Amino acid sequence: LMQGALEKLVPLAPDSWIPGGVPDPLIARKHGLIGSPVSRLDGRLKVTGAAPFAAEYRFDNMVYAALTYATIARGRIAALETAAAEAAPGVVLVMTYRNAPRMAPPPAFGSSPGGVGPADLPILQDDRIHWNGQPIACVLAETQEQADHAAALIAITYAEEPSTTSLTGAKANGIEQALFMGQKLLNEIGDPEGALAAAPYRVDQVYRTPRHSHNPIEPHAATLAWIGDELVIHDASQMVSQQAQTMADVFGLKAEQVRLTSPYVGGGFGSKGLWDHQVIAAAAAKLSGRPVRIALSREGVYRTVGGRTLTEQRVAIGADADGRFQSLIHTGLAVMTPHNAMPEPFILGSRATYAAPNILLKVEVARMNMLANTFMRAPGEAVGTFALESAIDELATELGIDPVELRIRNEPDKDPISGLPFSSRHIVEAWRQGAARFGWDSRAPAPAMRQEGEWRIGMGCATGTYPYYRMPGAEARITLTRDGDGVRALVEVAAAEMGMGTSTTTAIVAAERLGLPLDWVEVGYGDSAIPGAIMAGGSQQTAAIGAAVIAAQGALVAELLKLAGNDSPLAGLSVDEVGCDAGGLAKLDEPARRESYASILARAQRDSVSATRPGSPPLELMHWSMHSHSALFCEVRVNAVTGETRVSRFLGSFDCGRILNAKTAASQFRGGIIMGLGMALMEETQFDERNGRIMNPSLAEYHVPVHLDVPEIDVIWTDIPDPHTPMGAHGVGEIGITGVAAAVANAIYNATGTRVRDLPITLDRLL
Ligand code: MOS
Repeated sequence: LMQGALEKLVPLAPDSWIPGGVPDPLIARKHGLIGSPVSRLDGRLKVTGAAPFAAEYRFDNMVYAALTYATIARGRIAALETAAAEAAPGVVLVMTYRNAPRMAPPPAFGSSPGGVGPADLPILQDDRIHWNGQPIACVLAETQEQADHAAALIAITYAEEPSTTSLTGAKANGIEQALFMGQKLLNEIGDPEGALAAAPYRVDQVYRTPRHSHNPIEPHAATLAWIGDELVIHDASQMVSQQAQTMADVFGLKAEQVRLTSPYVGGGFGSKGLWDHQVIAAAAAKLSGRPVRIALSREGVYRTVGGRTLTEQRVAIGADADGRFQSLIHTGLAVMTPHNAMPEPFILGSRATYAAPNILLKVEVARMNMLANTFMRAPGEAVGTFALESAIDELATELGIDPVELRIRNEPDKDPISGLPFSSRHIVEAWRQGAARFGWDSRAPAPAMRQEGEWRIGMGCATGTYPYYRMPGAEARITLTRDGDGVRALVEVAAAEMGMGTSTTTAIVAAERLGLPLDWVEVGYGDSAIPGAIMAGGSQQTAAIGAAVIAAQGALVAELLKLAGNDSPLAGLSVDEVGCDAGGLAKLDEPARRESYASILARAQRDSVSATRPGSPPLELMHWSMHSHSALFCEVRVNAVTGETRVSRFLGSFDCGRILNAKTAASQFRGGIIMGLGMALMEETQFDERNGRIMNPSLAEYHVPVHLDVPEIDVIWTDIPDPHTPMGAHGVGEIGITGVAAAVANAIYNATGTRVRDLPITLDRLL
């Protein structure tokens, strides 16, 4: 994600907290608010139904949209019969390619700077069909039921064209080197195949992971209106500013003509971005002159919102008799469409996890006519760690070495690919603490040794990994307003909140830095009118916000010192000499010299003071190899009669820098682990290879874990700050899912002696 952005960076002045500079002084401070368990500040609004979601906004005179989806994988619309739909009760508009306004294709994520479109395909602009499920008509009606009914009355005749909907066919058409954000997914060091062949111990296996569909609890929706020549969109978005810009590009508008808000989102996981439905709804609103609500059905999400591609991965590791890796090979195939730029970069987690003198990492892609795939929680690492960490377990068996010990023996002392030093890496501590707490020493050293009645019991482990990123472009505005003897702080950032606690953590960070009680701080976010650009993606938003808040705080302190003037106890002090504490500014080495914010504002006869500043560029990424880490432990019970697997215990021991909010971080870790349990045991998009149709587009047939599938999940963390990141933090959003599927598969092997290399591990594979 960062590569393209980094090339444009200009180095900062040397007095920053980044490489070689002064660490953020707050890192050294013992935890006050930071790190304590704070409930989400928006929690009450959400559980009482008072928080408006995208499909709950309302405009006067609003109509409801329904979509009709194509049922072939590739071809043309030969005949389109809309008269019955147009005549149906309540129908306001039937829009197809024939009457839709002219629109530019959305600039696609990864292939266009700044664009966040799903693919570079035009939307409702011609008669071409590119995937089975593509929207081909939109009906607007006075009620949702009338729209749904009329959409079902549209009759389509297709002129089918040859399509590629099977993996075998796609491979036969040819495979190519994968590019991710413009960079080749390819790393080669030394002679990996030669070293593998020469190694006394080796594993060399193929692992397969299936397609996955996105299932946020809130299906995708938008409520929007044209007001004059402005487009106002209430959306569910994890990339608010970027999506507003892309909508402006599609409709040929200036950025300020699109206002997109998204204060509450019912889960995103990578899926809450721009898809066809928002563009179609905005076009239909324009054509009809009515505000539109579009709320996709669950099936609509499966048809039009991309998920995770299938992968076939080879992992080969050669080791000496002590278990030290001589060669690490991780290669394989992902599938994309002809029109998008999102391969599943499953080698990313293999770049910096283990030391080896010879390395080959490579992703290739085949092309199929299907819905464009996209980001899904830890794109790359989630499925890549299944292959890598399963192979390490297989190697541990070959060597007769404990799998925890084998991992620790292969700890790298610097990044094996880039050669950069690690900024903060305490994974060995995470392993030791996790193993002690889980009782790893009670694991049976050989498979199929423990059984209670029908249940065979086993333990497995795996490493999880996810890179630290921080995208440039974040900016924060802090406004202090007098309120009696105190102040209220408003912190505005162009951030997105998917329900993971971003606004709460931002309030914590700002309150701690400004020396204010938490309930004096309000956070503005989720609105494209706020300057700057941040997105909830790549587990980097918190660091990006933190850097912006730090910068804006510096600018605010400078403003306050100017306002304080010569009559203040702070007279003559510079920004570097003061700190924020107890509702005001104080001289760092002489805390009795202080003045409250309210007093400074009062003497200056001001009601408020405001400062805006962008976060420093993420230069830390050029100097350090930076990652979140985890050590995962799983206990399973596999039924000897039915093959059913129950996960009975799970522990995640995390090393993610400083934890900012113990409660929301623990929820991110647990949520990621639960998603990983689904990946291990049940999730699979059933794809009909004859016609490219997704066959299980509902939660009745696409299984995700329910409460009964989830044991108590124990999470612990090292809480060691990284001195090279804003606030010492690393990301926590995606690390939770990584490694989980391997920990489950490895536990199943320990329980049964059966090694399953294809996900999901359903009961038929254990009989
Ligand atoms: Mo994520 S897959 O960066 O929402």
